[in-house]
Amino acid sequence: MDWFLRSDFWELTYPLMFPSTRIERAEIDLAAVLRLSGVHEGSVLDLCCGPGRFSIPLARMGFSVTAVDSTEFLMDIARNRASIEKLDVEWVHSDMREFLRPSSFDLVISMFTSFGYCREHRENMKVLRNARESLKPGGRLLMEIMGKEVLASIFRPVTCEETDEGHLLVQRHSISSDWSMIHNDWLLLQDERLLGRWKFSHWIYSGIELRNMLLEAGFAKVDLYGDLEGDPYDSEAARLVAVAAAGEGG
Ligand SMILES: C[S@@+](CC[C@H](N)C(=O)[O-])C[C@H]1O[C@@H](n2cnc3c(N)ncnc32)[C@H](O)[C@@H]1O
Repeated sequence: MDWFLRSDFWELTYPLMFPSTRIERAEIDLAAVLRLSGVHEGSVLDLCCGPGRFSIPLARMGFSVTAVDSTEFLMDIARNRASIEKLDVEWVHSDMREFLRPSSFDLVISMFTSFGYCREHRENMKVLRNARESLKPGGRLLMEIMGKEVLASIFRPVTCEETDEGHLLVQRHSISSDWSMIHNDWLLLQDERLLGRWKFSHWIYSGIELRNMLLEAGFAKVDLYGDLEGDPYDSEAARLVAVAAAGEGG
């Protein structure tokens, strides 16, 4: 089975990927997402919503939210968080390659490198086409990923960090010889005991590659930024953020 469809991958890496600081951070990032996309009301599709970092504050703000993810474990966390606040979110358990709801959303978001997982390029293109078709005329897609140029500027083959639980996370990275993919090997250690090991690969995109894919998927206009504040995608960029507009004709 593909790594990204394995629940045990997301269960075991949950504390590493979604520490409370990152969940809280989304509230601040959301204001920037809305500013950058120019969408301030209406319906939002949170594609690959995970534990609802963005879906929940969006619902709190009064947006009509549809949240799609393929990992029940993460959606359960999101559902519980929403139910505590009695927030109304449509949770859809679906693969991003399959979810399509024509002309339904003012905004589609894909946050925290939730794109480029599928082995075949055509499958990743299908995700973009589905997103474009799911937008109302003039709607926007905002996608936030680790750009290839940014990765190249900070790349280290091995990193080691202490997690909030005091475990050691050793990450080994390599880049495919054509720079299309990053291969990751994560080891989580408690003292000398191995708690888990995950090997996974995904596509990495440069600014121009992502823009061309979005245009090929039918978007009318694509702007690139180096963060959610709208700074340029230049040598100082921290992330790659694309805001793609669906044409007024849909
Ligand atoms: C890095 S997490 C980001 C979650 C969320 N976007 C955020 O910002 O917190 C990637 C998410 O993609 C979901 N995912 C992975 N493959 C998927 C697929 N094929 N279809 C739908 N969701 C998928 C995972 O379950 C996970 O929630």
